[in-house]
Amino acid sequence: NKYAVIMAGGVGSRFWPVSKTSHPKQFHDMLGTGKTLLQQTYSRLAKFIPENQILILTNDIYEDLVLEQIPNLEPHQLFLEPAMRNTAPCILLAALKIHKLNPEAVMLVAPSDHWIEDEKSFGENLNQAFKVASKERALLTLGIQPTFPNTGYGYIEYEKDKSSDIKDVVKFTEKPDYGTAKSFLNQGNFLWNAGIFIWSTAYILNEFQEFQPKMFSLFNDEVSKLNTFDERQVISDIYPKAENISIDYAILESSESVKCVPADFDWNDLGTWGSLHDKLDKDSEKNAVVNAKAILNHSSNNIIRTEKDKIVVIQRLNDFIIVEDEKVLVIAPKSDEQDIKKLRQQAIEKF
Ligand code: GDD
Ligand code: MG
Repeated sequence: NKYAVIMAGGVGSRFWPVSKTSHPKQFHDMLGTGKTLLQQTYSRLAKFIPENQILILTNDIYEDLVLEQIPNLEPHQLFLEPAMRNTAPCILLAALKIHKLNPEAVMLVAPSDHWIEDEKSFGENLNQAFKVASKERALLTLGIQPTFPNTGYGYIEYEKDKSSDIKDVVKFTEKPDYGTAKSFLNQGNFLWNAGIFIWSTAYILNEFQEFQPKMFSLFNDEVSKLNTFDERQVISDIYPKAENISIDYAILESSESVKCVPADFDWNDLGTWGSLHDKLDKDSEKNAVVNAKAILNHSSNNIIRTEKDKIVVIQRLNDFIIVEDEKVLVIAPKSDEQDIKKLRQQAIEKF
């Protein structure tokens, strides 16, 4: 009864200019391992879930990229979205489809762009979550011990006094401002949402019906009419009408039965240049250099990536991001890494 859906339709805009709409980060080998992040995610999950029960959800402009990178994918494993609507609509549709096939299904929802090395612990945490989700009406999330007030994550507040393996979630807060994130860290009973969810299709559909009734009926009415898995035509009409909203805002902030499995594995969401810098090989001054030949004098803690092995010479510069593609060069302090999304927008509007 186990299914997985991999969400691979984001643009990865904080990794601009390397990650771009035409080729987002999940389709890049960001870590220099020889495999793209999507390939790594797929093979990680294929160890726990039968491959024909793993679906990849992505925008239809990425069809070729997905098929190039995972050539054995069966047509029914690929769900192509006709519009970018963030994660709630694609998860709802996937849940409806899987539920139709198997009303007892329990589904795992995973991002396509994270770093997880310890697959054994990851698998054990998944099993814990699958066990609960198959018995209980609950939305399970994996929680990560926070280390700093990151404003790009969801925060899970759990009940302080209970020392059970699985935490009852008091409140889920998506992307708080800096002050709020800081106070969460001080309180101690908060975890970061890893963005990996496990729930029965029956229960997540229940929650969509309750908290996103418009989106639910928009899709449910159509899916109940479909007989096959080939829904492209139908979906192209209705999908763009769905609200553009993430699952975190659409469901997790509202649901009253969120539970959390604290993760026993190291995790990095590779969400920004800084988090990627943490995972790359570095010189003695903590500079990470990718696809470049660098001379770095009195410089530390930078991340440098050129398009084609360019020679880069840097004097007295610390804590910077210096990255380029063939058209764009970005130079910004690492402390402003969350702003790259906005900088990209500015550049798109201006040029
Ligand atoms: N199919 C599909 N369609 N996938 C999408 C879409 C879409 O429209 N939009 C985003 N995705 C994919 C991304 O490619 C990524 O793998 C995943 O969904 C999560 O989207 P992000 O845009 O990376 O979300 P986030 O990082 O801002 O926030 C989420 O992840 C954090 C942990 O990394 C939230 O769940 C946070 O609560 C969480 O802490
Ligand atoms: Mg992310």
